Amino acid sequence: MSSGITSSSKNIKDRGSPGRLLMCAPDNFSVIYNINEWMQPQTWLSNSNELKRNAEQEWHHLYQTFQSLEMSIDLVSQPPGVPDMVFTANSGVVLDGRVLLSRFRHKERQPEEKYFAQHFELLKSKGIVVAVDEFPAELKQEGVGDCIWDCKRQIFWAGYGPRSSKEATLYIQKYYGKEVVALELLSSLFYHLDISLSPLNSGEVLYYPEAFNEQSQKIIKERVPAHELIAIDKEDAFNFVCNLVNVGDKIVLSRCSNKLKNILQAKGYSIIEVPVDTFGLAGGSVCCLTLRLDWQSNKG
Ligand code: ARG
Repeated sequence: MSSGITSSSKNIKDRGSPGRLLMCAPDNFSVIYNINEWMQPQTWLSNSNELKRNAEQEWHHLYQTFQSLEMSIDLVSQPPGVPDMVFTANSGVVLDGRVLLSRFRHKERQPEEKYFAQHFELLKSKGIVVAVDEFPAELKQEGVGDCIWDCKRQIFWAGYGPRSSKEATLYIQKYYGKEVVALELLSSLFYHLDISLSPLNSGEVLYYPEAFNEQSQKIIKERVPAHELIAIDKEDAFNFVCNLVNVGDKIVLSRCSNKLKNILQAKGYSIIEVPVDTFGLAGGSVCCLTLRLDWQSNKG
């Protein structure tokens, strides 16, 4: 498995690079429960040693890729008993250094909350974040999995339904004082927003229409002019194309069709493919394995 690094020429303003990420090495990653349709514990158990090795190699390749893009990477360690903790995108939402900690829907992931909370307090003591706060206890919200900052529009796109509560979108709006566009997710395959939609640095928005109900598809079309809106097909959606990390003009993702690669390259992006298929067995990919600590709003 090799990463294909392709480049193209147009200059896209790099807003926020070198960036800072939170990642978690897969020391105790496994698929032993089923909280989304991708997860098959029997498949994992039938071949767990090899799959664990593959996960470690894929994760290290991803880590090295971000290092080569000069991103700073903070690491949180993964204790036993929290196999999905590698998906740091689900730890919280961070904008302007202010952290809102996640509250997981499923009891299987709730034990991660205290580990992430401790780690964010540590980052606060080091001055890497400035505030660490909580959602009200009655709300569910799964971090960047369901709340993505659009640096071009200066808004959050927020998903609700399978995991996060609709009311959490209002809370995010109040907490950060930024507009939140709430989108209802329909399917148990596309259960998080970050596998269903992705705003890019220059204003384009990738999305998988089938992940959303009609009303939410309408909202997306009202917000994003046709020349910036890129509907992806089923093949790309099932390869987790929307679960990308965009750093300047580079797009890091697991796999992408040639058709979509050409569209993105024509818009000035370079595609860096880092296959992380083993994490797909848990229903996650590149973006899920990271949390952006560096998202900033334009102030003043
Ligand atoms: N197994 C995990 C879950 O179902 C995968 C999370 C993927 N993360 C994400 N940001 N989409 O919660």
